[in-house]
Amino acid sequence: MTAVPRDLRGRDRPDRAMATLAAVGGAYRSLARRPGRAPTPVDRTLHLRVAERVVVADGVVALRLAAPDGRPLPVWQPGCHLDVGLPSGRRRQYALTGDPADRRGYRVAVRAVPGGSGSAEMHALAVGDAVAVRGPRNAFPFVVRPRMLFVAGGIGITPIAPMVRAAARLGVDWRLVYTGRTRASMPFLDVLRSPRVAVRPDDEFGTPTDLLATALAGAAVYACGPPPMLDALRADLPASRATALHVERFSPPPVVGGRPFRLVLARSGVTLDVPADRTVLDVVREVRPDVSYSCRQGFCGTCRIGDTLICTDRAAGDRLVLDL
Ligand SMILES: Cc1cc2nc3c(=O)[nH]c(=O)nc-3n(C[C@H](O)[C@H](O)[C@H](O)COP(=O)(O)OP(=O)(O)OC[C@H]3O[C@@H](n4cnc5c(N)ncnc54)[C@H](O)[C@@H]3O)c2cc1C
Ligand code: FES
Repeated sequence: MTAVPRDLRGRDRPDRAMATLAAVGGAYRSLARRPGRAPTPVDRTLHLRVAERVVVADGVVALRLAAPDGRPLPVWQPGCHLDVGLPSGRRRQYALTGDPADRRGYRVAVRAVPGGSGSAEMHALAVGDAVAVRGPRNAFPFVVRPRMLFVAGGIGITPIAPMVRAAARLGVDWRLVYTGRTRASMPFLDVLRSPRVAVRPDDEFGTPTDLLATALAGAAVYACGPPPMLDALRADLPASRATALHVERFSPPPVVGGRPFRLVLARSGVTLDVPADRTVLDVVREVRPDVSYSCRQGFCGTCRIGDTLICTDRAAGDRLVLDL
């Protein structure tokens, strides 16, 4: 298989949380490879059931997942997500959006993505259905600062809501800017009532251009929302009073700085062209819609074929051969 460089998405700096996770994972793997220390696989899957299903906004369903015997679930912190195994075998991530102190259930909220397969399956779950879950895992670590600005776009409120509640409880000087298409499409508006919250639906205020305007001097910004919103925040940060930006992406950023190459699917004998601005995963999905993927950002490993994470890796040269 052709050697591949990592991640040509043009991120301006590596994601520190992911780099730390990768370093810890690497250290663990090298320890586990030492003679006499054969790793013992541990199944950390939680077999849960849907305990509650509520429509919390247009196209958004909130599910509470609980152990069938009511046993307390593993602890989590704001920013954590679950890796949910769906009845079809697909895996998708969903941010934990409830109260970390409530160990009796995990709350997630899922927006129905048009044409989306996993979100449709999540919406089809009924009370009593079984769900196999891995995690909680934290790819969006929350560190309390004296001044904080939270920015949420639509369903991006899910990881932000527990952060806001923690900040309020800890006496942080915080603000939240919450955007969305319409009020009706924005979940949890009822529980986020505070003079510190600015609700900015596009149909009333237009597409927001000043998301960092309310940042206090030295504020840390925590944001989750659609890619254009996160790109705008990154661009606006240097001219703002905020000092640091931490983001979570629910969908991958666009590919920038990539080179086109040929992709050979060795087992099926198919050759495909991967253009500069598309991922191997997107191109493979056109001929193999059954190919497995989940985060599409290079951190969950679901899409791995041989040494290649097909959601982020590209060919080092002109050709990449996959055992597919
Ligand atoms: C860490 C993490 C946490 C997440 N937390 C949440 C959460 O709390 N709530 C939630 O609803 N989702 C969340 N997501 C997104 C979720 O995991 C799925 O990606 C989402 O439900 C879409 O999956 P799907 O299978 O329905 O779409 P797919 O079948 O994978 O995609 C169908 C089509 O929709 C496009 N598409 C996929 N996602 C989006 C999107 N977000 N916006 C626009 N187009 C899209 C795809 O490019 C494709 O063309 C999270 C993702 C990550 C990585
Ligand atoms: S889909 Fe998660 S690493 Fe590729």
